[in-house]
Amino acid sequence: MTTEDAPQSSPTAMRQIIPIDLLERDQCPFDPPSGLRARRGQGAVQPLPLNNGATAWLVTGFEEARTVLADPRFSADKMRHRDATSLQPHEVDAPAAPEPPKEREDGFFVFMDPPEHTRLRRLLTGQFTVRRMKALESRVTEIAVEHIEAMKAAGDEADLVPAFALPLPSLVICELLGVDYADRCDFQKHTAVSLDSSADPEERALASAELYGFMQRLVAQKRANPADDLLSGLIHDADPPLTDTQLVDVALVLLGAGHETTANQLSLSMFALLENPDQLAALRDDPALIDGAVEELLRHLSIIQLGVNRVTTAPVTLGGVDIPAGATVIVATPEVNRDPRQWPDPDRLDVRRPRSPHLAFGHGVHQCLGQQLARIELQIGLRELITRLPGLRLTVPAEKIPVRNEMLIFGVHSLPVTWT
Ligand code: HEM
Repeated sequence: MTTEDAPQSSPTAMRQIIPIDLLERDQCPFDPPSGLRARRGQGAVQPLPLNNGATAWLVTGFEEARTVLADPRFSADKMRHRDATSLQPHEVDAPAAPEPPKEREDGFFVFMDPPEHTRLRRLLTGQFTVRRMKALESRVTEIAVEHIEAMKAAGDEADLVPAFALPLPSLVICELLGVDYADRCDFQKHTAVSLDSSADPEERALASAELYGFMQRLVAQKRANPADDLLSGLIHDADPPLTDTQLVDVALVLLGAGHETTANQLSLSMFALLENPDQLAALRDDPALIDGAVEELLRHLSIIQLGVNRVTTAPVTLGGVDIPAGATVIVATPEVNRDPRQWPDPDRLDVRRPRSPHLAFGHGVHQCLGQQLARIELQIGLRELITRLPGLRLTVPAEKIPVRNEMLIFGVHSLPVTWT
């Protein structure tokens, strides 16, 4: 049975139909899930039986994954291919619009193919300017320092996830969208609940509705009083103009794509460095290594586990394997980024590893739009933690750190640390 005759499945259901050992990092939280590791040596493209009896195709080779993400026969259009079992590119639990769900698709360019995708993508790329990124760099430093100082002022222990890793990207998105200071507390509260898949579903739906309303008011405010921010820029630059629904969708896409990803990469990176003291010491001795270390941590940790996927629009032969039309193709990023044809000794974390392109931010037309911003947040976040808290260490044994095994975006639920 292929995905063509598989029962229709929502993205959330997809998480349930993936064999759990493909998502669980049950031995080392920094290595690919055991189910992926067990498939090593079985080919760069493998049929993957799903829990519902359907078959998807798993891509574990670097070159083959680049083909999937660059070849137009692999579609990201989830509306056109509703019948195929498909995953969302990021965590399945992006903030939801209340009603009507169809309207959400207006600006959800993540799930569009060219040429529909191209216009929104171009408009947004034009807003991620070097000048705006430079300005954000100094704000990221201020936000990072403020949060570390607040942790120190409150005692000598903290959970790095709520105290640092979650608020940093959330406040950076506030800066990007131009959210007023007075509204940031509400914004952060709604975002945290709306993106927390362990929260009570009713509470979560309420928070998503609040967030949607918040974005609608923000768009109205930017139309009335434009400022020097991304939303005002989109309102000003788009010709023909974007609708309010498109603008709200774009704001929600940026939040959904840029918040949980960066927060998890940040906390898991710090955890990995604490567990690899020689690598941490190398960074302390030579902070100039930080940019390369961030790339290596992105490659080594590959937190978007099986979240990058496509649907074939025609029969395709990939890596010598025939894939039918209408099939779901899943890029197994944790394995792709450890392809031994691409990196020597790929399972080793080495902050001095020579730079070489990885697929943690994807590839092709949907390649991460926020990667420059994510890099800034990770470089500054890690640098400030390492230099301002030289005694940083875990307060519990590493095996007691709760990991996000059930999630498409991997990471830790909490990271209790001390620095004295
Ligand atoms: C460590 C942090 C991040 C990681 C690992 C990450 C990873 C990715 C990946 C793998 C894709 C491609 C998905 C696909 O091809 O299906 C993607 C797309 C995207 N990312 Fe990120 N991302 C991160 C941070 C951010 C940030 C900070 C933002 C913005 C504030 C952002 C905005 C986006 C958007 C808008 C897309 C969709 C682009 C398109 O469809 O054209 N991401 N990201």
